[in-house]
Amino acid sequence: MSQFSITVTDTDGSTRTISIPSNPKESLMQVLNKQSFDVPGSCGGIASCGTCHIAILEGKVSTEMSEDEDWMLDDLDNREENSRLSCQIPTVADLDGLKIKVIGE
Ligand code: FES
Repeated sequence: MSQFSITVTDTDGSTRTISIPSNPKESLMQVLNKQSFDVPGSCGGIASCGTCHIAILEGKVSTEMSEDEDWMLDDLDNREENSRLSCQIPTVADLDGLKIKVIGE
């Protein structure tokens, strides 16, 4: 299984670069949660809670945003231009080098 790296700034401002095994069945929310970032993922990854809200600071996510994700983000008060729900992003190697920040609800 190939590994790739992303850099994550948490809600407390701390930044870490983490190495992730490429696994299309696992979401970025699950990985961030396991790595103890402030990403509870309360709804379990069905785009209905907003607790996995992140912003893309640098790099690109190839997985398109679904209507459900877009609606959920619109419901949040703190949506940013590059906001995504990390539960809707599979951990595939094309995320390598991505820089994100955790925003939350
Ligand atoms: S985990 Fe609930 S919206 Fe992503």
